[in-house]
Amino acid sequence: MSKLLVLASSPRPKGNSTILATEAARGAKDADAEVKTFRLAKMKIGPCMGCDGCRKPKAAGCVQKDDMRTLYAELRAADAVLIASPVYWFTMSAQIKLFMDRLYAFGAESYRPLKDKRVGIILTYGDADPFVSGAVNAIRAFQDAFAYVGAPIAGMVYGSADKPGDVRANKALMKDAYALGQKLGF
Ligand SMILES: Cc1cc2nc3c(=O)[nH]c(=O)nc-3n(C[C@H](O)[C@H](O)[C@H](O)COP(=O)(O)O)c2cc1C
Repeated sequence: MSKLLVLASSPRPKGNSTILATEAARGAKDADAEVKTFRLAKMKIGPCMGCDGCRKPKAAGCVQKDDMRTLYAELRAADAVLIASPVYWFTMSAQIKLFMDRLYAFGAESYRPLKDKRVGIILTYGDADPFVSGAVNAIRAFQDAFAYVGAPIAGMVYGSADKPGDVRANKALMKDAYALGQKLGF
């Protein structure tokens, strides 16, 4: 059975990106995957201190003791990871940026636990256009970061929605999210 780790980063519990992530989780479960979901806004994840402790020989991870410890263990155990974020100020949310910075610990040449795990990305934004909204900046950052840690991006689902729940009206996007979950769940 495949294991999917879902990281929902919106501070809004019924936010659009979380709704799409839940739909993807449903798709993954239907594909027989075991799904675990974490809400980053509820977790204590500090910024990377740039200490390079994770780059010391035999370090195998970050030296900080916060909720990233839980996520590092879940990331190691997972076969696939799904990240859901709202676009804030023309890029990913602060919650997911903190998480991404801390993935530096998984990018050492001698320690690459994410290698060959499949990654999915979900983004929602207020503007109608992915360029004007800044979604493209987040997309580019995810592409580069996951290429760096050796984890191929299996698919991205992104679209416009503003008030919490608006995304439900976009049936095509909901369908795409479900299909992404199925793809990650196999
Ligand atoms: C602090 C803040 C910054 C935002 N910045 C952008 C932005 O740069 N571009 C955009 O298109 N929408 C922006 N939005 C709108 C959100 O991306 C949009 O409402 C999205 O659906 C939120 O996803 P969520 O419901 O999952 O939190 C912003 C919203 C907030 C609260």
